[in-house]
Amino acid sequence: MKKLKLVTNYTEYDGIDVLPPIAKDLMLAAMDVRKDAYAPYSRFLVGAALLLENGEIVKGSNQENASYPSGLCAERVAIYYAGAKYPNVAIKMLAITVASKNHVVDRPAAPCGACRQSIAEYETKQNDNIEIFFMGEKGKVIHTTSLKALLPFGFDGSYL
Ligand code: THU
Repeated sequence: MKKLKLVTNYTEYDGIDVLPPIAKDLMLAAMDVRKDAYAPYSRFLVGAALLLENGEIVKGSNQENASYPSGLCAERVAIYYAGAKYPNVAIKMLAITVASKNHVVDRPAAPCGACRQSIAEYETKQNDNIEIFFMGEKGKVIHTTSLKALLPFGFDGSYL
């Protein structure tokens, strides 16, 4: 019997203004699209912006449904749209921001498990990492150089 451990790495920035300029611009794009979220049930708005290697920015917001499980998170709206529209263009970076109509979210909210699994698939597909930045409505920003830092012990197609 062996006891093992997995360690993850991330960087914390004090705010959007101290991000590297490319990441700041992408986060501003995510904030811009966040307002387009269709979230009448949760009143929780999420914006996601992807930077592709061809320089395109693809944006998505969460889309809810009266039948709750039929809705989709902002990250998956954005990444599936990028996959559909630019199937052969690698994704370099993802910025995510959340806000609530009920209270101020002043701490970073990490993407949900299903979104992490979906983003992981695209790292496998393109055989390259995706940098991820995420934050609340204001305050600190967390950065990981790969989705793997957020989903250690992940499942991928190599098991199939
Ligand atoms: N949501 C996202 O868009 N991304 C996440 O990673 C977590 C949750 C959305 C789904 C739903 O519309 C609302 O936030 C509340 O869960």
